[in-house]
Amino acid sequence: MASTFGAARVLVASNRGPVSYEVREDGSLQAKRGGGGLVSGLSAIGPDAGALWVCSALGDGDRAAVRRGTGEPGVRMLDIPAEVHTDAYNGIANSVLWFVHHMLYQTPLEPVFDAEFRRQWASYETYNRAFAEALAEEAAEGAVAIVQDYHLALVPGMLRALRPDLRIGHFSHTPWAPVEYFRMLPDDIAGQLLRGMLGADRLGFLTHRWAEAFTRCCETLVGGLGDTRIGVHGLGADAEFLRRRSHEADVDERLAALRAEIGTGPEGTARKAIVRVDRTELSKNIVRGLLAYRQLLADRPEWRERVVHVAFAYPSRQDLAVYRDYTAEVRRVAEVINGEYGTAGWTPVVLHVKDDFARSLAAYRLADVALVNPVRDGMNLVAKEVPVVSDEGCALVLSREAGAYEELGEDAVVVNPYDVTRTAQALHEALTMPPGERAERSKRLTAAATALPPGRWFVEQLTALRG
Ligand code: G6P
Repeated sequence: MASTFGAARVLVASNRGPVSYEVREDGSLQAKRGGGGLVSGLSAIGPDAGALWVCSALGDGDRAAVRRGTGEPGVRMLDIPAEVHTDAYNGIANSVLWFVHHMLYQTPLEPVFDAEFRRQWASYETYNRAFAEALAEEAAEGAVAIVQDYHLALVPGMLRALRPDLRIGHFSHTPWAPVEYFRMLPDDIAGQLLRGMLGADRLGFLTHRWAEAFTRCCETLVGGLGDTRIGVHGLGADAEFLRRRSHEADVDERLAALRAEIGTGPEGTARKAIVRVDRTELSKNIVRGLLAYRQLLADRPEWRERVVHVAFAYPSRQDLAVYRDYTAEVRRVAEVINGEYGTAGWTPVVLHVKDDFARSLAAYRLADVALVNPVRDGMNLVAKEVPVVSDEGCALVLSREAGAYEELGEDAVVVNPYDVTRTAQALHEALTMPPGERAERSKRLTAAATALPPGRWFVEQLTALRG
Protein backbone atom coordinates (compact mmCIF):
# COMPACT_ATOMS: atom_id res chain seq x y z
CA MET A 1 0.00 0.00 0.00
CA ALA A 2 1.14 3.52 -0.82
CA SER A 3 2.32 5.54 2.15
CA THR A 4 1.28 8.87 0.61
CA PHE A 5 -1.97 9.77 -1.07
CA GLY A 6 -2.23 10.08 -4.82
CA ALA A 7 -3.62 13.01 -6.80
CA ALA A 8 -6.82 11.68 -8.39
CA ARG A 9 -10.06 13.08 -6.98
CA VAL A 10 -12.45 11.06 -9.14
CA LEU A 11 -11.51 7.51 -10.12
CA VAL A 12 -13.23 5.07 -12.41
CA ALA A 13 -12.23 1.42 -12.65
CA SER A 14 -13.33 -0.99 -15.36
CA ASN A 15 -11.94 -3.97 -17.19
CA ARG A 16 -12.16 -2.35 -20.63
CA GLY A 17 -10.84 1.18 -20.74
CA PRO A 18 -11.55 4.15 -23.00
CA VAL A 19 -8.58 3.53 -25.30
CA SER A 20 -6.79 0.55 -26.80
CA TYR A 21 -3.56 0.22 -28.77
CA GLU A 22 -2.54 -1.76 -31.80
CA VAL A 23 1.02 -2.42 -32.88
CA ARG A 24 1.53 -1.16 -36.44
CA GLU A 25 3.77 -3.02 -38.89
CA ASP A 26 6.64 -0.61 -38.25
CA GLY A 27 6.35 -1.33 -34.51
CA SER A 28 4.72 1.98 -33.58
CA LEU A 29 1.49 2.09 -31.62
CA GLN A 30 -1.87 3.21 -32.92
CA ALA A 31 -4.38 4.41 -30.31
CA LYS A 32 -8.07 3.69 -30.80
CA ARG A 33 -10.57 5.54 -28.65
CA GLY A 34 -13.79 3.84 -27.65
CA GLY A 35 -17.24 5.26 -27.03
CA GLY A 36 -19.96 4.26 -24.63
CA GLY A 37 -21.78 5.77 -21.67
CA LEU A 38 -18.81 5.93 -19.32
CA VAL A 39 -16.62 7.82 -21.80
CA SER A 40 -19.24 10.53 -22.33
CA GLY A 41 -20.13 10.43 -18.63
CA LEU A 42 -16.59 11.19 -17.56
CA SER A 43 -16.16 13.91 -20.17
CA ALA A 44 -19.13 15.68 -18.54
CA ILE A 45 -17.13 16.41 -15.39
CA GLY A 46 -14.49 18.31 -17.37
CA PRO A 47 -10.72 18.03 -17.77
CA ASP A 48 -9.88 19.70 -14.45
CA ALA A 49 -11.81 17.34 -12.22
CA GLY A 50 -8.70 15.30 -11.41
CA ALA A 51 -10.20 12.19 -12.98
CA LEU A 52 -8.31 8.96 -13.53
CA TRP A 53 -9.55 5.86 -15.31
CA VAL A 54 -7.96 2.58 -14.20
CA CYS A 55 -8.41 -0.32 -16.64
CA SER A 56 -6.76 -3.53 -17.88
CA ALA A 57 -4.18 -3.71 -20.62
CA LEU A 58 -6.05 -6.08 -22.93
CA GLY A 59 -3.75 -7.07 -25.77
CA ASP A 60 -0.17 -6.88 -27.03
CA GLY A 61 -0.64 -3.26 -28.09
CA ASP A 62 -1.92 -2.20 -24.67
CA ARG A 63 0.88 -4.05 -22.91
CA ALA A 64 3.45 -2.42 -25.16
CA ALA A 65 1.95 0.99 -24.38
CA VAL A 66 2.26 0.32 -20.64
CA ARG A 67 5.85 -0.86 -20.95
CA ARG A 68 6.87 2.05 -23.15
CA GLY A 69 5.08 4.48 -20.84
CA THR A 70 3.24 6.03 -23.80
CA GLY A 71 -0.28 5.91 -22.35
CA GLU A 72 -2.91 8.64 -22.44
CA PRO A 73 -3.10 11.17 -19.63
CA GLY A 74 -5.95 10.36 -17.27
CA VAL A 75 -5.77 6.62 -18.01
CA ARG A 76 -3.78 4.04 -16.10
CA MET A 77 -3.65 0.61 -17.70
CA LEU A 78 -2.76 -2.31 -15.48
CA ASP A 79 -0.42 -4.84 -17.03
CA ILE A 80 -1.83 -7.86 -15.21
CA PRO A 81 -0.15 -11.15 -16.26
CA ALA A 82 -1.99 -12.53 -19.31
CA GLU A 83 -2.78 -15.91 -17.65
CA VAL A 84 -4.28 -14.20 -14.61
CA HIS A 85 -6.35 -11.91 -16.80
CA THR A 86 -7.55 -14.78 -18.97
CA ASP A 87 -8.72 -16.80 -15.96
CA ALA A 88 -10.41 -13.80 -14.37
CA TYR A 89 -12.01 -12.39 -17.54
CA ASN A 90 -12.79 -15.41 -19.72
CA GLY A 91 -13.06 -17.91 -16.88
CA ILE A 92 -14.82 -16.24 -13.98
CA ALA A 93 -16.27 -12.96 -15.30
CA ASN A 94 -17.58 -14.06 -18.69
CA SER A 95 -18.15 -17.80 -18.20
CA VAL A 96 -19.51 -17.74 -14.65
CA LEU A 97 -20.72 -14.32 -13.46
CA TRP A 98 -22.11 -13.24 -16.84
CA PHE A 99 -23.86 -16.61 -17.13
CA VAL A 100 -25.32 -16.36 -13.63
CA HIS A 101 -26.69 -12.84 -14.05
CA HIS A 102 -28.07 -13.57 -17.53
CA MET A 103 -29.29 -17.02 -16.47
CA LEU A 104 -27.59 -18.66 -19.43
CA TYR A 105 -26.57 -22.04 -18.03
CA GLN A 106 -27.78 -25.13 -19.83
CA THR A 107 -28.65 -27.62 -17.12
CA PRO A 108 -27.91 -30.59 -16.73
CA LEU A 109 -24.37 -30.07 -18.07
CA GLU A 110 -23.67 -26.68 -16.55
CA PRO A 111 -22.45 -25.25 -14.28
CA VAL A 112 -19.68 -27.34 -12.72
CA PHE A 113 -17.82 -25.73 -9.84
CA ASP A 114 -14.72 -27.88 -9.53
CA ALA A 115 -10.99 -27.53 -8.90
CA GLU A 116 -10.50 -25.69 -12.20
CA PHE A 117 -13.12 -23.16 -11.14
CA ARG A 118 -11.34 -22.68 -7.80
CA ARG A 119 -8.05 -22.11 -9.62
CA GLN A 120 -9.65 -19.46 -11.82
CA TRP A 121 -11.30 -17.89 -8.81
CA ALA A 122 -7.87 -17.33 -7.25
CA SER A 123 -6.94 -15.39 -10.41
CA TYR A 124 -10.13 -13.36 -10.14
CA GLU A 125 -9.09 -12.38 -6.62
CA THR A 126 -5.58 -11.46 -7.80
CA TYR A 127 -6.98 -9.41 -10.65
CA ASN A 128 -9.41 -7.58 -8.35
CA ARG A 129 -6.59 -6.95 -5.87
CA ALA A 130 -4.45 -5.35 -8.61
CA PHE A 131 -7.26 -2.87 -9.26
CA ALA A 132 -7.84 -2.16 -5.57
CA GLU A 133 -4.12 -1.50 -5.04
CA ALA A 134 -3.85 0.79 -8.05
CA LEU A 135 -6.89 2.78 -6.93
CA ALA A 136 -5.53 3.01 -3.39
CA GLU A 137 -2.25 4.33 -4.73
CA GLU A 138 -3.76 6.93 -7.08
CA ALA A 139 -6.60 8.31 -4.98
CA ALA A 140 -6.30 11.65 -3.20
CA GLU A 141 -7.52 11.83 0.38
CA GLY A 142 -11.33 11.58 0.49
CA ALA A 143 -11.55 10.95 -3.29
CA VAL A 144 -14.49 9.23 -4.97
CA ALA A 145 -13.92 5.93 -6.77
CA ILE A 146 -16.63 4.30 -8.89
CA VAL A 147 -15.94 0.68 -9.80
CA GLN A 148 -17.71 -0.85 -12.79
CA ASP A 149 -19.34 -4.20 -13.24
CA TYR A 150 -19.09 -7.90 -12.45
CA HIS A 151 -15.42 -8.10 -13.42
CA LEU A 152 -14.55 -6.09 -10.31
CA ALA A 153 -17.07 -7.18 -7.68
CA LEU A 154 -14.42 -7.70 -4.99
CA VAL A 155 -12.75 -4.32 -5.44
CA PRO A 156 -15.00 -2.23 -3.17
CA GLY A 157 -14.30 -4.42 -0.13
CA MET A 158 -10.57 -4.65 -0.87
CA LEU A 159 -10.30 -0.91 -1.47
CA ARG A 160 -12.26 -0.09 1.69
CA ALA A 161 -9.67 -2.07 3.72
CA LEU A 162 -6.78 -0.20 2.08
CA ARG A 163 -8.33 3.28 2.07
CA PRO A 164 -11.16 3.80 4.57
CA ASP A 165 -11.14 7.53 3.76
CA LEU A 166 -12.51 7.08 0.22
CA ARG A 167 -16.09 7.31 -1.02
CA ILE A 168 -16.57 4.08 -2.92
CA GLY A 169 -19.26 3.32 -5.46
CA HIS A 170 -19.91 0.33 -7.69
CA PHE A 171 -22.15 0.23 -10.74
CA SER A 172 -23.57 -2.94 -12.34
CA HIS A 173 -24.21 -2.73 -16.09
CA THR A 174 -25.75 -6.20 -16.13
CA PRO A 175 -28.93 -7.66 -14.70
CA TRP A 176 -28.70 -9.15 -11.22
CA ALA A 177 -29.75 -12.78 -10.82
CA PRO A 178 -32.73 -13.79 -8.68
CA VAL A 179 -31.54 -15.33 -5.42
CA GLU A 180 -32.77 -18.81 -6.41
CA TYR A 181 -30.39 -18.70 -9.39
CA PHE A 182 -27.56 -16.74 -7.77
CA ARG A 183 -27.17 -19.26 -4.97
CA MET A 184 -26.11 -21.99 -7.37
CA LEU A 185 -22.68 -20.43 -6.85
CA PRO A 186 -20.72 -22.12 -4.05
CA ASP A 187 -21.80 -20.56 -0.74
CA ASP A 188 -18.40 -19.12 0.11
CA ILE A 189 -18.04 -17.56 -3.35
CA ALA A 190 -21.55 -16.09 -3.31
CA GLY A 191 -20.79 -14.60 0.10
CA GLN A 192 -17.46 -13.20 -1.04
CA LEU A 193 -19.06 -11.53 -4.06
CA LEU A 194 -21.86 -9.92 -2.08
CA ARG A 195 -19.60 -8.82 0.77
CA GLY A 196 -17.08 -7.51 -1.74
CA MET A 197 -19.71 -5.27 -3.30
CA LEU A 198 -21.07 -4.25 0.10
CA GLY A 199 -17.65 -2.75 0.79
CA ALA A 200 -18.98 0.18 -1.26
CA ASP A 201 -20.86 3.13 0.24
CA ARG A 202 -23.32 2.97 -2.59
CA LEU A 203 -24.21 0.45 -5.28
CA GLY A 204 -25.80 1.49 -8.56
CA PHE A 205 -28.05 -0.55 -10.84
CA LEU A 206 -29.73 0.15 -14.17
CA THR A 207 -33.28 -0.77 -13.09
CA HIS A 208 -35.33 -1.32 -9.95
CA ARG A 209 -35.69 -4.95 -10.92
CA TRP A 210 -31.94 -5.61 -10.71
CA ALA A 211 -31.56 -3.53 -7.54
CA GLU A 212 -34.31 -5.54 -5.84
CA ALA A 213 -32.77 -8.85 -6.93
CA PHE A 214 -29.45 -7.79 -5.42
CA THR A 215 -31.12 -6.70 -2.19
CA ARG A 216 -32.91 -10.07 -1.96
CA CYS A 217 -29.59 -11.90 -2.45
CA CYS A 218 -28.05 -9.92 0.40
CA GLU A 219 -31.03 -10.44 2.71
CA THR A 220 -31.08 -14.17 2.08
CA LEU A 221 -27.37 -14.94 1.96
CA VAL A 222 -25.43 -12.39 4.02
CA GLY A 223 -27.94 -10.93 6.46
CA GLY A 224 -28.81 -7.74 4.56
CA LEU A 225 -27.26 -4.64 3.04
CA GLY A 226 -25.65 -3.25 6.20
CA ASP A 227 -24.79 0.43 5.72
CA THR A 228 -24.52 0.25 1.94
CA ARG A 229 -27.06 2.34 0.01
CA ILE A 230 -28.61 1.32 -3.28
CA GLY A 231 -29.41 3.63 -6.20
CA VAL A 232 -31.04 3.16 -9.59
CA HIS A 233 -29.66 5.12 -12.54
CA GLY A 234 -31.14 4.15 -15.90
CA LEU A 235 -28.40 5.13 -18.31
CA GLY A 236 -29.94 6.84 -21.33
CA ALA A 237 -28.87 7.56 -24.89
CA ASP A 238 -26.66 10.52 -25.70
CA ALA A 239 -29.03 12.34 -28.06
CA GLU A 240 -26.75 15.23 -28.88
CA PHE A 241 -23.82 13.02 -29.83
CA LEU A 242 -25.95 10.53 -31.77
CA ARG A 243 -27.78 13.16 -33.81
CA ARG A 244 -24.56 14.87 -34.80
CA ARG A 245 -22.56 11.71 -35.45
CA SER A 246 -25.31 10.04 -37.49
CA HIS A 247 -25.25 12.88 -40.04
CA GLU A 248 -21.54 12.90 -40.74
CA ALA A 249 -20.29 12.09 -44.21
CA ASP A 250 -19.15 8.52 -43.50
CA VAL A 251 -22.62 7.63 -42.20
CA ASP A 252 -24.28 9.19 -45.26
CA GLU A 253 -22.02 7.08 -47.47
CA ARG A 254 -22.92 3.90 -45.65
CA LEU A 255 -26.58 4.80 -45.73
CA ALA A 256 -26.45 5.01 -49.52
CA ALA A 257 -24.62 1.67 -49.71
CA LEU A 258 -27.09 0.02 -47.36
CA ARG A 259 -30.07 1.35 -49.34
CA ALA A 260 -28.55 -0.13 -52.49
CA GLU A 261 -28.05 -3.45 -50.70
CA ILE A 262 -31.66 -3.52 -49.49
CA GLY A 263 -32.97 -2.65 -52.94
CA THR A 264 -36.53 -1.85 -53.90
CA GLY A 265 -39.60 -4.07 -53.84
CA PRO A 266 -42.20 -4.80 -56.51
CA GLU A 267 -43.21 -1.75 -58.55
CA GLY A 268 -40.20 0.12 -57.18
CA THR A 269 -41.63 0.45 -53.64
CA ALA A 270 -39.15 1.05 -50.82
CA ARG A 271 -38.57 -2.10 -48.84
CA LYS A 272 -39.19 -1.97 -45.10
CA ALA A 273 -36.21 -2.56 -42.82
CA ILE A 274 -36.26 -4.53 -39.58
CA VAL A 275 -32.97 -3.55 -37.92
CA ARG A 276 -30.99 -5.12 -35.12
CA VAL A 277 -27.46 -4.35 -33.94
CA ASP A 278 -25.77 -6.47 -31.28
CA ARG A 279 -22.57 -8.10 -30.23
CA THR A 280 -22.84 -11.82 -31.08
CA GLU A 281 -23.80 -12.36 -27.50
CA LEU A 282 -25.77 -15.38 -26.33
CA SER A 283 -28.14 -13.24 -24.26
CA LYS A 284 -29.05 -11.05 -27.25
CA ASN A 285 -31.14 -13.88 -28.72
CA ILE A 286 -30.21 -13.20 -32.33
CA VAL A 287 -31.09 -16.68 -33.54
CA ARG A 288 -34.66 -16.59 -32.19
CA GLY A 289 -34.99 -13.17 -33.81
CA LEU A 290 -34.03 -14.71 -37.15
CA LEU A 291 -36.46 -17.58 -36.60
CA ALA A 292 -39.26 -15.11 -35.87
CA TYR A 293 -38.47 -13.28 -39.12
CA ARG A 294 -38.52 -16.61 -40.95
CA GLN A 295 -41.93 -17.37 -39.48
CA LEU A 296 -43.17 -13.94 -40.57
CA LEU A 297 -42.14 -14.73 -44.15
CA ALA A 298 -43.77 -18.16 -43.93
CA ASP A 299 -47.07 -17.00 -42.37
CA ARG A 300 -47.45 -13.76 -44.28
CA PRO A 301 -46.27 -14.20 -47.85
CA GLU A 302 -47.33 -10.61 -48.59
CA TRP A 303 -44.09 -9.49 -46.92
CA ARG A 304 -41.84 -11.45 -49.27
CA GLU A 305 -39.80 -9.10 -51.48
CA ARG A 306 -41.10 -6.17 -49.41
CA VAL A 307 -39.05 -6.38 -46.24
CA VAL A 308 -35.39 -6.94 -45.30
CA HIS A 309 -33.98 -7.98 -41.95
CA VAL A 310 -30.80 -5.93 -41.46
CA ALA A 311 -28.89 -7.80 -38.78
CA PHE A 312 -25.52 -6.54 -37.60
CA ALA A 313 -23.95 -9.07 -35.26
CA TYR A 314 -20.46 -8.04 -34.24
CA PRO A 315 -18.14 -10.81 -32.99
CA SER A 316 -17.63 -10.71 -29.24
CA ARG A 317 -15.69 -12.82 -26.71
CA GLN A 318 -14.47 -15.13 -29.44
CA ASP A 319 -11.95 -16.75 -27.07
CA LEU A 320 -14.91 -18.69 -25.70
CA ALA A 321 -16.03 -21.69 -27.76
CA VAL A 322 -19.69 -21.15 -26.94
CA TYR A 323 -19.53 -17.62 -28.42
CA ARG A 324 -17.75 -18.87 -31.56
CA ASP A 325 -20.42 -21.53 -31.99
CA TYR A 326 -23.16 -18.97 -31.50
CA THR A 327 -21.63 -16.67 -34.12
CA ALA A 328 -21.53 -19.61 -36.54
CA GLU A 329 -25.16 -20.45 -35.76
CA VAL A 330 -26.24 -16.87 -36.48
CA ARG A 331 -24.55 -17.07 -39.89
CA ARG A 332 -26.03 -20.49 -40.60
CA VAL A 333 -29.62 -19.52 -39.83
CA ALA A 334 -29.32 -16.32 -41.90
CA GLU A 335 -28.07 -18.42 -44.83
CA VAL A 336 -30.91 -20.89 -44.41
CA ILE A 337 -33.47 -18.08 -44.63
CA ASN A 338 -31.77 -16.53 -47.63
CA GLY A 339 -31.66 -19.96 -49.28
CA GLU A 340 -35.35 -20.62 -48.60
CA TYR A 341 -36.82 -17.26 -49.56
CA GLY A 342 -34.20 -15.24 -51.43
CA THR A 343 -34.75 -14.35 -55.09
CA ALA A 344 -32.55 -12.86 -57.80
CA GLY A 345 -33.41 -9.33 -56.64
CA TRP A 346 -34.05 -9.82 -52.93
CA THR A 347 -31.84 -10.94 -50.05
CA PRO A 348 -34.20 -11.37 -47.07
CA VAL A 349 -31.46 -11.16 -44.40
CA VAL A 350 -28.62 -8.68 -44.78
CA LEU A 351 -26.15 -9.91 -42.17
CA HIS A 352 -22.93 -8.08 -41.40
CA VAL A 353 -20.45 -9.28 -38.80
CA LYS A 354 -17.63 -6.76 -39.15
CA ASP A 355 -17.91 -4.10 -36.45
CA ASP A 356 -18.62 -0.70 -38.02
CA PHE A 357 -20.18 2.03 -35.87
CA ALA A 358 -20.90 4.37 -38.80
CA ARG A 359 -22.77 1.60 -40.59
CA SER A 360 -24.75 0.83 -37.43
CA LEU A 361 -25.87 4.46 -37.32
CA ALA A 362 -26.83 4.26 -41.00
CA ALA A 363 -28.99 1.24 -40.20
CA TYR A 364 -30.59 3.11 -37.29
CA ARG A 365 -31.46 5.94 -39.66
CA LEU A 366 -33.36 3.79 -42.10
CA ALA A 367 -35.00 1.48 -39.53
CA ASP A 368 -38.76 1.04 -39.84
CA VAL A 369 -38.66 -1.48 -37.02
CA ALA A 370 -35.97 -2.04 -34.39
CA LEU A 371 -35.82 -5.60 -33.06
CA VAL A 372 -34.41 -5.87 -29.52
CA ASN A 373 -35.32 -9.27 -28.10
CA PRO A 374 -32.66 -10.31 -25.53
CA VAL A 375 -33.43 -13.17 -23.16
CA ARG A 376 -32.01 -10.92 -20.44
CA ASP A 377 -30.16 -7.63 -20.64
CA GLY A 378 -29.00 -5.03 -18.11
CA MET A 379 -30.43 -2.17 -20.19
CA ASN A 380 -29.85 -2.47 -23.95
CA LEU A 381 -28.84 0.88 -25.35
CA VAL A 382 -29.71 -0.06 -28.94
CA ALA A 383 -33.39 0.05 -27.92
CA LYS A 384 -32.79 3.62 -26.77
CA GLU A 385 -30.59 4.74 -29.66
CA VAL A 386 -32.63 3.67 -32.70
CA PRO A 387 -35.70 5.84 -32.00
CA VAL A 388 -33.41 8.85 -31.45
CA VAL A 389 -31.55 8.38 -34.74
CA SER A 390 -34.21 6.94 -37.09
CA ASP A 391 -35.07 9.40 -39.87
CA GLU A 392 -38.78 8.57 -39.98
CA GLY A 393 -39.31 7.41 -36.40
CA CYS A 394 -39.37 3.66 -35.86
CA ALA A 395 -41.49 1.04 -34.17
CA LEU A 396 -39.71 -0.91 -31.43
CA VAL A 397 -40.18 -4.63 -30.81
CA LEU A 398 -38.81 -5.04 -27.30
CA SER A 399 -38.22 -7.96 -24.97
CA ARG A 400 -39.79 -7.59 -21.56
CA GLU A 401 -36.53 -9.03 -20.16
CA ALA A 402 -34.42 -6.05 -21.25
CA GLY A 403 -33.76 -3.41 -18.62
CA ALA A 404 -34.95 -0.81 -21.15
CA TYR A 405 -38.45 -2.30 -20.84
CA GLU A 406 -38.85 -0.49 -17.49
CA GLU A 407 -38.72 2.86 -19.30
CA LEU A 408 -39.80 2.04 -22.87
CA GLY A 409 -42.35 -0.75 -22.34
CA GLU A 410 -45.42 1.42 -22.82
CA ASP A 411 -44.63 2.53 -26.36
CA ALA A 412 -42.93 -0.63 -27.61
CA VAL A 413 -44.47 -3.81 -29.02
CA VAL A 414 -43.49 -6.08 -26.16
CA VAL A 415 -42.49 -9.73 -26.49
CA ASN A 416 -41.52 -12.72 -24.42
CA PRO A 417 -38.12 -13.39 -26.01
CA TYR A 418 -38.56 -17.17 -26.06
CA ASP A 419 -41.89 -16.95 -27.91
CA VAL A 420 -40.90 -17.00 -31.58
CA THR A 421 -44.52 -17.12 -32.80
CA ARG A 422 -45.47 -14.05 -30.79
CA THR A 423 -42.29 -12.27 -31.93
CA ALA A 424 -43.25 -12.94 -35.57
CA GLN A 425 -46.70 -11.40 -34.87
CA ALA A 426 -45.05 -8.46 -33.13
CA LEU A 427 -42.88 -7.84 -36.20
CA HIS A 428 -46.01 -7.78 -38.35
CA GLU A 429 -47.72 -5.40 -35.93
CA ALA A 430 -44.70 -3.13 -35.94
CA LEU A 431 -44.41 -3.18 -39.74
CA THR A 432 -48.08 -2.29 -40.18
CA MET A 433 -48.29 0.35 -37.45
CA PRO A 434 -50.07 3.41 -38.90
CA PRO A 435 -47.51 6.14 -39.69
CA GLY A 436 -49.09 8.66 -37.32
CA GLU A 437 -49.06 6.24 -34.41
CA ARG A 438 -45.53 5.15 -35.21
CA ALA A 439 -44.30 8.75 -35.23
CA GLU A 440 -46.06 9.54 -31.94
CA ARG A 441 -44.72 6.46 -30.22
CA SER A 442 -41.23 7.04 -31.57
CA LYS A 443 -41.32 10.56 -30.16
CA ARG A 444 -42.29 9.27 -26.71
CA LEU A 445 -39.67 6.50 -26.93
CA THR A 446 -37.05 9.14 -27.74
CA ALA A 447 -38.08 11.28 -24.77
CA ALA A 448 -37.88 8.31 -22.38
CA ALA A 449 -34.64 7.05 -23.95
CA THR A 450 -32.84 10.36 -23.50
CA ALA A 451 -34.19 11.24 -20.04
CA LEU A 452 -30.86 10.51 -18.35
CA PRO A 453 -27.96 11.17 -20.75
CA PRO A 454 -24.53 9.73 -19.83
CA GLY A 455 -23.18 13.00 -18.43
CA ARG A 456 -26.02 13.38 -15.97
CA TRP A 457 -26.05 9.64 -15.25
CA PHE A 458 -22.44 9.91 -14.06
CA VAL A 459 -22.77 13.21 -12.20
CA GLU A 460 -25.88 11.91 -10.39
CA GLN A 461 -23.80 9.05 -8.99
CA LEU A 462 -20.93 11.32 -7.99
CA THR A 463 -23.27 13.69 -6.21
CA ALA A 464 -25.03 10.87 -4.38
CA LEU A 465 -21.69 9.47 -3.24
CA ARG A 466 -20.40 12.82 -2.05
CA GLY A 467 -23.65 13.63 -0.30
C1 G6P B 1 -21.34 -5.68 -21.22
C2 G6P B 1 -20.62 -5.37 -19.93
C3 G6P B 1 -19.51 -4.40 -20.18
C4 G6P B 1 -18.63 -4.90 -21.29
C5 G6P B 1 -19.44 -5.16 -22.55
C6 G6P B 1 -18.63 -5.72 -23.70
O1 G6P B 1 -22.09 -4.59 -21.62
O2 G6P B 1 -21.53 -4.89 -18.96
O3 G6P B 1 -18.75 -4.23 -19.03
O4 G6P B 1 -17.61 -4.02 -21.56
O5 G6P B 1 -20.47 -6.06 -22.23
O6 G6P B 1 -18.05 -6.91 -23.35
P1 G6P B 1 -16.50 -7.17 -23.41
O7 G6P B 1 -16.34 -8.52 -22.79
O8 G6P B 1 -16.16 -7.13 -24.85
O9 G6P B 1 -15.83 -6.08 -22.64
